[in-house]
Amino acid sequence: MTDADPPDGRVGKANGQTSVAAESGGCDSTMHELVSTEGLNKADQYARLCAQAQALLSGEHDRTANAANLSALLFQGLPDVNWVGFYFFDGVELVVGPFQGKPACVRIALDQGVCGRAAATGVSQLVPDVQAFPGHIACDTASRSELVVPLSTAHGRLLGVLDIDSPKLARFDAEDQHGVEQLARIYLAACEYQGQLD
Ligand code: SME
Repeated sequence: MTDADPPDGRVGKANGQTSVAAESGGCDSTMHELVSTEGLNKADQYARLCAQAQALLSGEHDRTANAANLSALLFQGLPDVNWVGFYFFDGVELVVGPFQGKPACVRIALDQGVCGRAAATGVSQLVPDVQAFPGHIACDTASRSELVVPLSTAHGRLLGVLDIDSPKLARFDAEDQHGVEQLARIYLAACEYQGQLD
C-alpha cells in the first residue's frame, strides 16, 4: 500500500470506478498503464475493457496466467463488483482458479450454484437477486447479484466459467452479459494455441 492507495486496501481501485489498461503483453519492459472507464456508459466501458483485454492477453496462451490478468482487469475496471474470477472444470466438477475478491469455495459440482448451472447448461446466468436463486452458493455474504458466463472450446469442451459478483442488487443486465461474453471470447481466443484447449 502507498499513501495514494484507497483505504479499502485494493491497490489502484478508487471508488470502484478505476480501471486498468494494458498497453502490451509481457512484463519484460512494459508497465500495464491504468486507463479509467469512469464516467463511460456500459457500451463504452466494455469496448474499452475488451481493447485492454486484447492487449493484455494477446501473445500469451497460458490459461492460468490469462485468467489471473483478466480477473484483475475486470475487478479494477468494472464498478460495483466484489468478486471476479474463474472456475475451471477438472472433468468432474468446477475448481476455483485465479480470482480477485474474498477467498471462495474451492469446488462446485455441476448441479450446484449459479456456476454449476452455467457450466452444465452452457448458458450465461444473469442473476439479479442471488437470494432468489435456488441453491446459490454464498462465498461472500456481501454478494447480491451475479453474472456467470460459461467457457467452452471451439469444439464444445467445457473449460470452466467466468464469475462476477456484485454487492448491488440487479447490478448486471443484458449489456453486461453481452460485454462479459465478448471478454470471455477474447480470453478463449488468447488461450487457444494449436488446439491445446481441446
Ligand atoms: N455464487 C457462486 C459461487 C462462487 S462465488 O460467487 C465466488 C455460485 O452460486 O455458484
